[in-house]
Amino acid sequence: MAAVLFLLALLCGLVACAPTRLSQSTLMARSDDCFKGHPYPANLPLLQFKPCTSRLPSQGPSSSSFKVMVITDTHLLDDQTVPGNASNVARASRNAVRTYISQEQPDFVVHLGDMISGEAANNTKDVQSAIREILSPMKDKRIPFSTTKGNHDNEKYSTHGSITDIERNYAPSLSYTRKAPANVGGGEYGTDNYWIPIFQAGPVDPNKTAPKVLLWFFDSRAGRKMLSQGYGPVNDWVDDSVADWITSETEKMEKAWGHVPPGLIFVHIPVHEHYTTQNDPPYADHVGGVPDETPANYTNKGLAYQGLNDDKPLASQGQESDQGEYSHRIQKSQ
Ligand SMILES: *[C@@H]1O[C@H](CO)[C@@H](O)[C@H](O)[C@H]1NC(C)=O
Ligand SMILES: *[C@@H]1O[C@H](CO)[C@@H](O)[C@H](O)[C@H]1NC(C)=O
Ligand SMILES: *[C@@H]1O[C@H](CO)[C@@H](O)[C@H](O)[C@H]1NC(C)=O
Ligand SMILES: *[C@@H]1O[C@H](CO)[C@@H](O)[C@H](O)[C@H]1NC(C)=O
Repeated sequence: MAAVLFLLALLCGLVACAPTRLSQSTLMARSDDCFKGHPYPANLPLLQFKPCTSRLPSQGPSSSSFKVMVITDTHLLDDQTVPGNASNVARASRNAVRTYISQEQPDFVVHLGDMISGEAANNTKDVQSAIREILSPMKDKRIPFSTTKGNHDNEKYSTHGSITDIERNYAPSLSYTRKAPANVGGGEYGTDNYWIPIFQAGPVDPNKTAPKVLLWFFDSRAGRKMLSQGYGPVNDWVDDSVADWITSETEKMEKAWGHVPPGLIFVHIPVHEHYTTQNDPPYADHVGGVPDETPANYTNKGLAYQGLNDDKPLASQGQESDQGEYSHRIQKSQ
């Protein structure tokens, strides 16, 4: 079965929070949608924290939670070297996602990329059915979701942008994936740069209230150009133009809300700093304890941070010289 890595992030915090007044909308429209404070059209519900239930008995009555389930690297279309076995692999991955959803009851699902092994597609129809299949558990259970794409999603018959189109067409009232404006991200190969606001529990006017948390998605591109476009390689790091976009978005947030809400970042190919964290003291002993991916090498220690440990060394974004500028600027814009 294709790897279905699975991480959970449970965000918790106090509900009580004085709403910050918005100045007349300074947050500008994306290329495809208009917004004031809330970048999504009215057919997409506001995502909000929920009052904590008995699921978290240790927390007081005024606490709330928003549970994000992360799936990644489902690689649909891959036959796992057994010709004709791709549909079995797809079904197994889809069923795994379905099981995780029913066990975890997430408020939101993120697919972190490599949704498909695009190199195994024979046409655009293969891509479309595979994307629909891996998203079907969320559609069936009406769980909102969004995706970023990976280095196997830009391939013969797909780009990150074309997959986003398939996704939004398939689940228009559940998909929060958005493309950055056309001059941001490096074209159709790196479209998925966007942020999603998560609001506090209770009645909220998104035109007046700052979100509690932002989910940021940066597209690390990579893979290949489409067959029809020459099939050449695509850089495997977030495009430099995204750093400028982060700066301008956060400036608008500062103006509108008086602060930039705390955020979680989702990106398929980790930035170079993750490599250092995995390999150098003081964290090397805790993160990525598996020298190779032989199952016998997975010790209790090695599994301290499952997911990170599955890939050592992880594939980080390009060389320092290639993406150092991006890292530097992203740190500055934080
Ligand atoms: C085909 O894929 C399934 C699901 O991943 C796997 O369990 C099975 O062993 C595979 N079949 C063969 C013949 O390898
Ligand atoms: C693509 O074509 C090859 C060769 O006919 C076939 O083995 C493979 O199963 C096809 N892939 C898909 C996803 O249908
Ligand atoms: C927020 O502002 C937009 C644009 O002026 C308006 O259409 C929308 O109804 C407002 N939303 C609320 C909840 O007042
Ligand atoms: C664990 O990884 C090391 C380093 O790659 C390797 O030499 C060793 O054989 C592996 N151990 C097992 C049990 O596979």
